[in-house]
Amino acid sequence: MSERALVIVGSLNMDFVVRVERLPAPGETALGRAFQMIPGGKGANQAYAAGRLAKSVRARMIGRVGYDLFADHLKASLAAAGVDVSFVHATRSAPTGVALIWVDNEGQNSIVVASGANYALAPSEVEPMRPLFSSASYALFQLETPPETVVRALAVARQEGAKTILDPAPAQRLDAELLANVDLLTPNETEACILLDRPPARVSLAEAKSLAQALLAAGVKAVVLKLGDQGCFYCDREASLHSPAFPVHCVDATAAGDTFNAGLAVALAENQPMEQALRFANAAAALSVTSLGAQASIPSRAAVDTLVA
Ligand code: RIB
Repeated sequence: MSERALVIVGSLNMDFVVRVERLPAPGETALGRAFQMIPGGKGANQAYAAGRLAKSVRARMIGRVGYDLFADHLKASLAAAGVDVSFVHATRSAPTGVALIWVDNEGQNSIVVASGANYALAPSEVEPMRPLFSSASYALFQLETPPETVVRALAVARQEGAKTILDPAPAQRLDAELLANVDLLTPNETEACILLDRPPARVSLAEAKSLAQALLAAGVKAVVLKLGDQGCFYCDREASLHSPAFPVHCVDATAAGDTFNAGLAVALAENQPMEQALRFANAAAALSVTSLGAQASIPSRAAVDTLVA
């Protein structure tokens, strides 16, 4: 088993979560239920999940927070999952990131992120990350930090021998320079459509292969399409495979994609074959949707191993 670390470069947010009957329409006031503050942020969720799911691989988080109580809380949450937070630095230029989240009765959500300190992670700060990448098997990225920083960090991670996984969320068009340094791209259906400049739509299994191939043609080495209750679809230039979802009751889909990515990275870092790694990632994501919140919903290794078995 590899002992090299997993490095996660990305956002830390305090999530303000309210449950609602249904997501409000523009201009509508909705009466919600209980309010909760739950540690989140796509980067931090992936780091937390990697910390919970890894057996012997260390997870290291790189990110920026403000000088405030949320920062302390978010770092403590990661540390409790065994994540190395010594590369999460505080900036005086902005407060810690926050996300406002509504979750409806079907477990679907609507999220607005105020990036704050997450956008203080500048491209000029990438060079000092080099030694971290050189000791990493996989480096995980998302798009809640400045895109120029992601472009630079992907390139440096590759140069240092780490395999790169990009979760292209929040959804946006990406240029070829960024995609060229991605080993594994993991969009959900909406993100895949937006990357390809198509209207967002549900993707059937029959359509998955051509969509994944179009993404390969954009320059990445391999693609995992996250297809919700249809599981996921893997495709590289030689092979493709579908891994079905585990049927569960969805309470809240927040951080399911983050948990999937961390589960996949952990399994691949343990040298599990791709088919087994996808199944492990699907199981972790399935368990995460059965309870409310981002980091609060991320399962233990034992729970995932039980479901996989
Ligand atoms: O992927 C879920 C996350 O998106 C939430 O935790 C929120 O902070 C936003 O970053």
